[in-house]
Amino acid sequence: MHKNNYIYHFNYNDNESDLCKLESRHIFNTEEQNKMLFSDKKVEPSSSAFIKRRIDIILSSEDYPTLIADIKKLDIHAEGFKVEYLVLHGDKTEYNNRLKRLKDIGYSIEGDPDYYNPTITYSLCYFDDVWYFGIMNKDSFDWHKHKQKPCSYSNSINVSIAKALINIAAEADKDKKLIDACCGVGTVMLEACFSGNNIEGCDINEKIYKQAIENLSHFNYTANVYHSDIKDIDKRYDAAIIDLPYNLFCYADDEIIMHIMRSTANITDRLVIVSTSDITEQINSAGLKLSDYCNIKKGRKTNLSRRIWVCEKN
Ligand SMILES: C[S@@+](CC[C@H](N)C(=O)[O-])C[C@H]1O[C@@H](n2cnc3c(N)ncnc32)[C@H](O)[C@@H]1O
Repeated sequence: MHKNNYIYHFNYNDNESDLCKLESRHIFNTEEQNKMLFSDKKVEPSSSAFIKRRIDIILSSEDYPTLIADIKKLDIHAEGFKVEYLVLHGDKTEYNNRLKRLKDIGYSIEGDPDYYNPTITYSLCYFDDVWYFGIMNKDSFDWHKHKQKPCSYSNSINVSIAKALINIAAEADKDKKLIDACCGVGTVMLEACFSGNNIEGCDINEKIYKQAIENLSHFNYTANVYHSDIKDIDKRYDAAIIDLPYNLFCYADDEIIMHIMRSTANITDRLVIVSTSDITEQINSAGLKLSDYCNIKKGRKTNLSRRIWVCEKN
């Protein structure tokens, strides 16, 4: 039986599987398996594009009647509650049986239920011969509003990648100081601000820098954005994110890529780099050590295939 505090439930499409696993390694120190994970680490589902639910486990038992008896002993009073069944990997419980169990729990809680506007949602799930009862926290999907940002470009990284970059860079630690070294219109910064991460941004292009500021203020976020070459930033950061220019809207050759990577490595020991091509040689030349990697294939939501390189200073 798992003795962890939380069960996480994930969802993603086939193209995003490797990105979700990379993110989960850096948030939880372990990979999600079969779209679920047990952990003691508390993470808000909305801070990731892939975590859909977190169950805060209250009780567990291998014996279902014991679980119900234990729920009754808790003497829960909750006006406007709801109970949802979460089907986890390997759970073959049939629909009618699931409904019956939800009723069992409903009758064990004092108060009138509210199915449409619940004040609290409890959850029942079954995994590896154990029943779990807890409080369900769902992804609010609020961050989808960022898709309507005033300024964007068609080849900007998508929101799922932006959220993953934050989680990989910060390793779920909101106190870590992050810099988006080539922030563009601020796609990554919006997600960091939404999740309460500590981030600053920098872009060499004045028009684009102004668009990042416009996007941030549109959603009432405050974060420093510098109109600067990253080489002129003289603060230190716990980690940097670099979405390298890919030579579409702004010119980028090997020299520019090396310049950005070397300059960023001067202000942090940890770099999470996004590229559209193989940058193994540049990583070595910049004196960096590759510690993790994933390739995101071109898909429904991504116009370009992208590679994510997690690097540490040698
Ligand atoms: C691929 S875009 C970043 C896009 C961004 N992630 C977004 O979604 O809007 C790369 C950015 O790097 C900026 N850039 C290029 N060289 C730079 C440098 N030396 N210092 C800072 N920014 C630089 C470009 O102006 C461009 O906006």
